[in-house]
Amino acid sequence: MFKDPVLASNWQPVAYSHELTEKPMPVVLLEERIVLFRTSKGINVFKDLCIHRGAALSLGKVENDCLVCPYHGWEYETDGKCVKIPQQPASRAIPLKAKAVVYQATEKYGLIWVKLIKDQSDSKDTFFEYAEFSDPSFKTVFANPHTFNAAAPRVVENFLDVSHLAFVHEGSLGDSNHAEIPDYKVHWKENRYVSDEIPVYADADGTGNYTTLHYTFEILAPTAARLKKVNYENGEIFAMLFTVLPQEERKSTVFALVSRNYAFDTPDQYFTDFQQLIIEQDTAIVESQKPEELPLDLQAELHLIPDRVSIAYRTWLGKLGVTFGSEVKKKKEVTY
Ligand code: FES
Ligand SMILES: [Fe+2]
Repeated sequence: MFKDPVLASNWQPVAYSHELTEKPMPVVLLEERIVLFRTSKGINVFKDLCIHRGAALSLGKVENDCLVCPYHGWEYETDGKCVKIPQQPASRAIPLKAKAVVYQATEKYGLIWVKLIKDQSDSKDTFFEYAEFSDPSFKTVFANPHTFNAAAPRVVENFLDVSHLAFVHEGSLGDSNHAEIPDYKVHWKENRYVSDEIPVYADADGTGNYTTLHYTFEILAPTAARLKKVNYENGEIFAMLFTVLPQEERKSTVFALVSRNYAFDTPDQYFTDFQQLIIEQDTAIVESQKPEELPLDLQAELHLIPDRVSIAYRTWLGKLGVTFGSEVKKKKEVTY
């Protein structure tokens, strides 16, 4: 059984597509060791374990579209079936149990996504929208993957937290003399939460141009969110898809797509460097938060009107029943 059946049945980001070469790549997802590899048929994901003697398949190699175990050379096809055991004559049958555990994987938005619990229904997978990725009026860059020693819900909530910009990112994104956040609301729309446009005195991208930007946050999934910042004075839009790989209860890796409809001549490196600076500013704060798991009981911490996006996020995680990296309402001790 997986650590969190809800997260295990949702697509989780595990790597950027461009990071996976012909070499098998080990990843930890919800405390499960998995291996990603590429064949002529596409992306494949197995449990990172050989059934023979438990070696990590990620130490092996891909040959003839098979994943070859590094220990005794057993070869597994993409459907998980072992098709070669070099130690026995080719005429001898391969035990039916000689199989690798296969997980569902797909590529979208330049990322590889994995579902540990297979979808039983035939219904077409609905993936959340990030239209900027394929919109020619935007340029999108991939931020460097960044690992937090913190729970995934804490990391996602930090991204959704509009109030910290003026302090944690003072001089990069925000200004502490303009910390007030006008009241706004959050709405459920079809399959996600969307905030009103929130006017924030901010700098979109670290160029030093402070003005009023209109922020819209969307909570797309337990481990995915997006942000749009619009400058209505010049029509510039900065958008971001923020997704988090929940590795261990208190260890998570962020993959983020940063999109802009302006400054096409500015080298992409500028935007990846800027995103790196911002996420490093967040790291010390998020890693300091107690309790380490996000409290879903709304009585557990103090909430203000500007925290409405976080309130929606905590409420949703509670409704979905996410427990990995979050702290569900503690049962009252009953004394007799
Ligand atoms: S452990 Fe994999 S082939 Fe023996
Ligand atoms: Fe931040």
